[in-house]
Amino acid sequence: MNRRLGVLISGRGSNLQALIEATRDRRLDATIAVVISNREDAQGLARARAAGVETLTISHRGWSSRDDHDRVIVRELRARDVGLVCLAGYMRLVGPPLLEAFPNAILNVHPSLLPAFPGVDAPRQAIEHGVRVSGVTVHFVTSELDNGPIVLQRAVPVLDDDTVETLAARILVEEHKAYPEAVAVVLGGGWRIEDRRFVRSATSASSSLSPLRADS
Ligand code: GRF
Repeated sequence: MNRRLGVLISGRGSNLQALIEATRDRRLDATIAVVISNREDAQGLARARAAGVETLTISHRGWSSRDDHDRVIVRELRARDVGLVCLAGYMRLVGPPLLEAFPNAILNVHPSLLPAFPGVDAPRQAIEHGVRVSGVTVHFVTSELDNGPIVLQRAVPVLDDDTVETLAARILVEEHKAYPEAVAVVLGGGWRIEDRRFVRSATSASSSLSPLRADS
């Protein structure tokens, strides 16, 4: 897999920032080729520009279908020879054109231990359900929302006095570590998808990253 990343965002871009910093520190041996936002007011665009990363805004409005919007994104990603697409707070469903152009090559970061609490407001769902442990999941993107093969998960305890905001903030800290680490694992190769399991070969699984460990 080539090490050129395309990052798709819609907003704040703190996970994008984590990827930028990981590539800068060489914790992640990759190049962010382009950041694409569907919203021109996304804060993440400024983060990318500040890091000297090319940005594009491709609004989801004005197309006759979601697939048309996806096709333009595919064209721009291909034009920059992107090998792996990272969704980082991208608030759009990914349709067939993107999925078919990047098979097993689109990752997402989600603020819960999937399959618990897919969709929006995962920390709120965790608080309302009363779980004692939540966390972060980095997974491949498929046609089903938040349901693809899981690359890495990290547990985050839910404290008695947690609010949605305090839990979300502690999960976000783990997201910023987990996402670059998962991207490094995927780019490192030596893995395969079996049914819906992400399976690493013995040699790559014994790397120093130990990314499949769930910390509490
Ligand atoms: C993160 O919590 C991520 O898990 C979810 O959307 C949020 C995006 O935050 N998919 P940011 O834009 O990366 O700061």
